[in-house]
Amino acid sequence: MADLKAFEREVEAFFKPLFPGEDKILVFGDGQHDAPPLMLIGEAPGEQETIKRRPFVGKAGKNLDEFLELMQMKREDIFVSNVVKIRPTAVGSTGRIKNRAPSREEIELFTPYLMKEIELVKPRALVTLGNVPLRALMGKSTIGDMHGKWHTACNGLPLFALYHPAAVIYRRELKQVYEQDVCILRDSLTIQTRK
Ligand code: URA
Repeated sequence: MADLKAFEREVEAFFKPLFPGEDKILVFGDGQHDAPPLMLIGEAPGEQETIKRRPFVGKAGKNLDEFLELMQMKREDIFVSNVVKIRPTAVGSTGRIKNRAPSREEIELFTPYLMKEIELVKPRALVTLGNVPLRALMGKSTIGDMHGKWHTACNGLPLFALYHPAAVIYRRELKQVYEQDVCILRDSLTIQTRK
């Protein structure tokens, strides 16, 4: 844990000066941080995550609960994090601040820190949600071709690719695919993590 705290201070020391005058909140991973069976990796925190300073809360937390229920696991059994640790925002047409997809630059800046976080947490396997974490860990890849299967991440860890649950909300036809993929993951997990 001391190492993770030092890691968080290091990331804050790097990123806070990049946003002078803005009190940018960094949202770090949480959960079982000592060699968990799984590390779940999303894109970036949204508004609720920034308020609670915890990944996958609010609407995304409901998605996570559904995932955990299918997996027959508890949130505290796994480690949950994001590639990008700040909330990417844009100003909408009404002047309201809204979430946006993380930019290529944000992804590139945060990826080395994600790799370090993985090294510290030492998960037995990685689960990526959507294209952003998949590409951060596997280079050029597309979720449409990679979902529902095990791969080997660039750091040598077993990686299982899932659609991002937000994509499932916008594309209802993916719901069944997503749930099938989670069941494949659940049923294969014991075999993969025994490696
Ligand atoms: N909340 C997160 O923490 N990550 C996501 O990818 C989406 C919502």
